[in-house]
Amino acid sequence: MEFQFLFYESNSEGVRVILLYLHFLRTWFWYMMIALLKSNVVNMEMFGLDIMDKTVLQKIVLVLVCTFLFWKIIRYMSDLLKVEKEPVTVLVTGAAGQIGYALVPMIARGMMLGPNQPVILHMLDIEPALEALKGVKMELIDAAFPLLRGVVATTDVVEACKDVNIAVMVGGFPRKEGMERKDVMSKNVSIYKTQASALEEHAAAYCKVLVIANPANTNALILKEFAPSIPEKNITCLTRLDHNRALGQISEKLNVDVSDVKNVIIWGNHSSTQYPDVNHATVATSNGKKHVRELVADDNWLNSEFITTVQQRGGAIIKARKLSSALSAASAACDHIHDWVLGTPKGTWVSMGVYSDGSYGIQPGLIYSFPVTCDKGEWNIVQGLKIDEFSREKMDKTAQELIEEKALANSCL
Ligand SMILES: NC(=O)c1ccc[n+]([C@@H]2O[C@H](COP(=O)([O-])OP(=O)(O)OC[C@H]3O[C@@H](n4cnc5c(N)ncnc54)[C@H](O)[C@@H]3O)[C@@H](O)[C@H]2O)c1
Repeated sequence: MEFQFLFYESNSEGVRVILLYLHFLRTWFWYMMIALLKSNVVNMEMFGLDIMDKTVLQKIVLVLVCTFLFWKIIRYMSDLLKVEKEPVTVLVTGAAGQIGYALVPMIARGMMLGPNQPVILHMLDIEPALEALKGVKMELIDAAFPLLRGVVATTDVVEACKDVNIAVMVGGFPRKEGMERKDVMSKNVSIYKTQASALEEHAAAYCKVLVIANPANTNALILKEFAPSIPEKNITCLTRLDHNRALGQISEKLNVDVSDVKNVIIWGNHSSTQYPDVNHATVATSNGKKHVRELVADDNWLNSEFITTVQQRGGAIIKARKLSSALSAASAACDHIHDWVLGTPKGTWVSMGVYSDGSYGIQPGLIYSFPVTCDKGEWNIVQGLKIDEFSREKMDKTAQELIEEKALANSCL
């Protein structure tokens, strides 16, 4: 059974209906009993029955006994439905790092898989970070999260990957001063090869993978190559942070609630060549849905400053904080998995780095960010959006960068 069935929220709806029915039956049952006692089993015309007739009295007794049994069965069934969901095992690699530290409490609080879904956390890091990792585990225990059913903190990749349903790959080798791009790529290729093999062998069937560590799209591609039994639709990378940044910029510009802004798109690579596109984005207003371009009424801003602000937001945060984005990255990781597993709201899409099937003329075999909708644990690329010349050029440019990254990664194998 695919594990995503565990997440169907409709269960609780079913429980509510049955409990309501049960409540009705129980009320009816007591009403009948009281009526019987009060009337001293003489006048039951109120139920349309003449119980002076002995056979009618027998029928009533039979109905009551049947109702009682039926009530017991319903109660038993509703208890079964109320049985707590099986915990889902979530792996976070690089869990002692900045994003990891922000992410694990969010998962344990239900922000990733919902407020009724128990979780077991597997945290992986490398030997030099082991003490810090143990500290994170202590804090998770101290926080007494009701949904948290177990924590594993380890440097053993096999132990970390054992039976995981969801793998969030945050650990990676950062670019250090003076390092060539190829050297960083080579380090990450080697990490992602090893971790892919461990997931391939030890993760649960239908494990869903989200790669966050940079270069996120290409790390995800390497992972896909070395975990061939994990379906390609189950390997994705994070561009939801860029998507959320784009929503945030539009909401600031228009002074509207960010939740009213919908359907921006991040095309391509999680890098400064990404293309944040608002051509199909809308804002919910008191006069109905309006297009972002119409409301902003400043194409020059949308085609230049807006795009570069989103593309370079990571750098701006490093400059301000002296550290890279962690809180927003962790939150975006929760959004990504949440929507993938539980579905996107009707009429809304999100951006995810997914395996290209050639949609919108993007070379198949790249992990490229597309607009997607999700339903029952499956993402699907939104089709049929009109692409103008300006967008086409930007979408191809970021695809070209991914083609080059892929070639560089292949040369490191
Ligand atoms: N896709 C995105 O939107 C996005 C956003 C922000 C950051 N990032 C990337 O996410 C990654 C993590 O960022 P951070 O700020 O948490 O970095 P960080 O340096 O604070 O943490 C990285 C952690 O990974 C660990 N690590 C290194 N090699 C490992 C391995 N082989 N196995 C397991 N763990 C390993 C490190 O020990 C460290 O604890 C970086 O690559 C960063 O560039 C991506």
